[in-house]
Amino acid sequence: MLTEFKVADLSLAAFGRKEIQLAEHEMPGLMAVREEYAEARPLRGAKIMGSLHMTIQTAVLIETLVALGAEVRWASCNIFSTQDHAAAAVVVGPNGTAEDPQGVPVFAWKGETLEEYWWCTEQALTWPGGDAPNMILDDGGDATLLVHKGAEYDAAGTVPSAAEDDPDEWKVILAALRRSIDRTPGRWREIAAGIRGVTEETTTGVHRLYEMHRNGALLFPAINVNDSVTKSKFDNKYGCRHSLVDGINRATDVLIGGKVAVVCGYGDVGKGCSESLRGQGARVIVTEVDPICALQAAMDGFQVTTLEDVVDTADIFVTTTGNTGIIRADHMERMKHQAIVGNIGHFDNEIDMAGLAKIAGIRRINVKPQVDEWVFPDGHMIIVLSEGRLLNLGNATGHPSFVMSNSFTNQVIAQIELFTRSDAYPLGVHVLPKHLDEKVARLHLDALGVKLTTLTKEQAAYIGVDVEGPYKPDHYRY
Ligand code: NAI
Repeated sequence: MLTEFKVADLSLAAFGRKEIQLAEHEMPGLMAVREEYAEARPLRGAKIMGSLHMTIQTAVLIETLVALGAEVRWASCNIFSTQDHAAAAVVVGPNGTAEDPQGVPVFAWKGETLEEYWWCTEQALTWPGGDAPNMILDDGGDATLLVHKGAEYDAAGTVPSAAEDDPDEWKVILAALRRSIDRTPGRWREIAAGIRGVTEETTTGVHRLYEMHRNGALLFPAINVNDSVTKSKFDNKYGCRHSLVDGINRATDVLIGGKVAVVCGYGDVGKGCSESLRGQGARVIVTEVDPICALQAAMDGFQVTTLEDVVDTADIFVTTTGNTGIIRADHMERMKHQAIVGNIGHFDNEIDMAGLAKIAGIRRINVKPQVDEWVFPDGHMIIVLSEGRLLNLGNATGHPSFVMSNSFTNQVIAQIELFTRSDAYPLGVHVLPKHLDEKVARLHLDALGVKLTTLTKEQAAYIGVDVEGPYKPDHYRY
């Protein structure tokens, strides 16, 4: 029986299990990896701490890691993204019951406070008996950040005080670290020293890793899963193409057709979002800072202009930049009555929610979970989704299984690589070799009825590749 976990309601486990079974069929990559490694169990001895949205798809990922021999503990990487039935099913496990849970310790529920969120992350990093993980599977880099900051302050023997104007979340992190370092000095350094590596899921987390490595602060090797082609060119694009409108629909049920929608950022996520809104009949306007992406948007048929130009007239605003301060409070003040504002980038700093709350005389009226009206003193109001946090996971259920099978097959392969072939991945940030990227794609073809053409030997020689691949040089951009 599992003694440690914290989820909303174990009685949801049966529903969760049903959905996990449905998802397994839609996740052929993960299921093929389970089959391939059923005997070898290359993750035996791995103690993996996961910090990634606790959804049904993630449940299939967790159970794949376990099938490959790993011990796993999990937290979500966002306060709103947990699907409580998925969390319950993972805790109960395929063979347990709500009375006798036998699965994986999960610390996650939908609607955590920031204090609870960082408590959950710390719990997932704490093995029974004071033991620690030797691998991290991260999404956005929060677990990696906690370990690095913990180790830094442990070494310094002190946790700095937060400045008054620091973001609330940073104050919460510092308080959590101060408590844990007071309790067990040296613990974070020990955890950091025991980690063989981290596999990072998303653009924002990957930015953090490269920055840490540039500054000489990275403490263990990392695999950048995001930049596998079968991750960012699929999950970020086709995943958001599905889950953006799903989130807007579930939150507002507003007819998107005919409306003017502004998508800030035309990277992989922005491309998927723009296409999905256009698919619903919206007139889509893109904002960009990068001339290449702006030109791409223009050639894809979108008007490209600045937010200032359209902020008074558009109906729907979506941020996809992974950058900070994109929609400011003064922008929101100028928006139309009942304009919809949401973010699908990783962190909530794309929309200045703190600035919005500080407008004199503004009122927040909660419509339902993760949907708020913000009423300005003149009586007009806007609708903000998921308090500015990623709306596809806050207002809907995130990306569907098939696309996540691509992302998570990369994750599992990256975990195997880092855990079993540490010598091949020295301190630094690595991407998976192309043959493994192509393998992930290959595992998803049959399910879609795709028939590949095989190169002849002459053709392979002519273009200078192997008949079996890789088919493209590393600099090819897809
Ligand atoms: P990306 O780097 O491909 O695209 C971001 C784009 O935003 C870039 O083209 C950049 O030039 C543009 N940009 C930056 N500052 C801007 C500004 N001030 N105004 C307008 N455009 C600006 O990154 P990607 O992969 O599209 O990811 C974006 C964010 O979405 C990241 O935070 C990532 O972690 C997150 N993400 C969220 C997912 C979800 O399910 N919600 C799934 C995948 C990624």
